[in-house]
Amino acid sequence: MRKAFLLGAALVAAPAIGQTRAGNQLAPKSQAAMPRTPGIPYRPTGIPDRIVLTPAADASRGAAVAWRTDPRQTQAVAEIGVALDSPGTARDKRQVSGTSFPLDAVNGPSIYHQVRFAGLQPGTAYVYRVKGADGWSEWLPFHTPAASPAPFTFLYFGDTQNRILEVASRVIRQAFRSTADPALVVHAGDLVAQREEKAHDDEWGEWAAAGGYNYATIQQLPATGNHEYVDVPGPAGQENRLIGPHWQPSFTLPRNGAPGAEATSYFVDWQGVRFIVLDGTSALDLGTLASQTRWLDATLAASKARWNVVLFHQPIFTCARPNDTEELKAAWKPIFEARGVDLVLQGHDHCYSRLTSEQGRDASNRARAAGRVQGPVYLVSVVGSKMYALNDRAATQPDRVAEDTELYQRIDVDGDRLTLRSFTATGRLYDGFRLNKRRDGRNRLEVLSDRPIDTRRCAGNVGPDGFPCTARGR
Ligand SMILES: [Fe+2]
Repeated sequence: MRKAFLLGAALVAAPAIGQTRAGNQLAPKSQAAMPRTPGIPYRPTGIPDRIVLTPAADASRGAAVAWRTDPRQTQAVAEIGVALDSPGTARDKRQVSGTSFPLDAVNGPSIYHQVRFAGLQPGTAYVYRVKGADGWSEWLPFHTPAASPAPFTFLYFGDTQNRILEVASRVIRQAFRSTADPALVVHAGDLVAQREEKAHDDEWGEWAAAGGYNYATIQQLPATGNHEYVDVPGPAGQENRLIGPHWQPSFTLPRNGAPGAEATSYFVDWQGVRFIVLDGTSALDLGTLASQTRWLDATLAASKARWNVVLFHQPIFTCARPNDTEELKAAWKPIFEARGVDLVLQGHDHCYSRLTSEQGRDASNRARAAGRVQGPVYLVSVVGSKMYALNDRAATQPDRVAEDTELYQRIDVDGDRLTLRSFTATGRLYDGFRLNKRRDGRNRLEVLSDRPIDTRRCAGNVGPDGFPCTARGR
């Protein structure tokens, strides 16, 4: 089936690049004038590319895939079966069809395809492949999770956004290279810049190239950032935020989100962890705050998971900006606390922060020493090259901060223990803590005894590596 690009009811339909919904030109000059990746490596062909695997809401029973081809492949067709050790492709192989979306961009006309694999068996190794006019992709392996709690590891990436292939890719690849069999990757928004930096389609090409086959074989959970939205002038000159045209075709997400933000909010259950993804931009700018807040509360209330992890872009507590994101803080923080959210993973600020108490680091240390339980732990991190200077509160409020530093996180979930480690681009341990869940569901936080490297901050104009500090705002 091939159909027009369609978004959730209250989200505005996103046009293909170069066109508005009415078919008018959407700032085509600005796209044409944007810097391009040399050599046009991202032109669509008859071989599938930009293949991204995503989980179903019950990941143990379903998965989904999105990919891109040139326009000759008009049907979304994939094959899937149980993986074999022999080269005989797969057992119980079946063909599955889905939905195709045309998308015109600076690299030429393309078609994105989406297929959902339903009726999968928990804890099973599968292979799948997807079709283009000139041939199939390779067979791509993945695992479904168990239907009940079991240990697993996932990765958390802050904003990749800037110089994605040139600089951010080394962090992404270090994460995959150093982590044994990660089950999932969560992206805290601003996967791309979608501003005056580079042609949008080249950025999405870079994003796919940076992760490569890892994005096709490990389930991805993306959150939108403000940069996943484009600003389109309205008839009276006002700015309208529209989800960028690549978002929905690129990610075949569960359709179980908040009313009004169906394309960008969702939840997934994975071996005893409920991942809840919110859309801060839609909440702040598109009037879905109340809807997302109700949905968040209901989704947490219904959760039977031992751990609840929430992912979105604009941080409740900022490490770079003068003020916290007050609207989200007022609406969502009380729910995180009342419903026992364990981790809040965020981006947007282009610095690193691990915050365990709004009252500050000393208060948090005192509370821990007195045996108090730990509420939600708030993380902010960044993968890409854009860096913001830490704000004044960063000196005393978060437990651990960094500036001018690219990082990734590895999170290990094992029964009543959840361990988060932050690593730098070169793979050095920067921060680490463990949440130990008590029988009553509340946590104690233990700072890992592994000795991390020293705090990384700029000193005046000099960065922590002795080169000019790249953090803006200093
Ligand atoms: Fe960002």
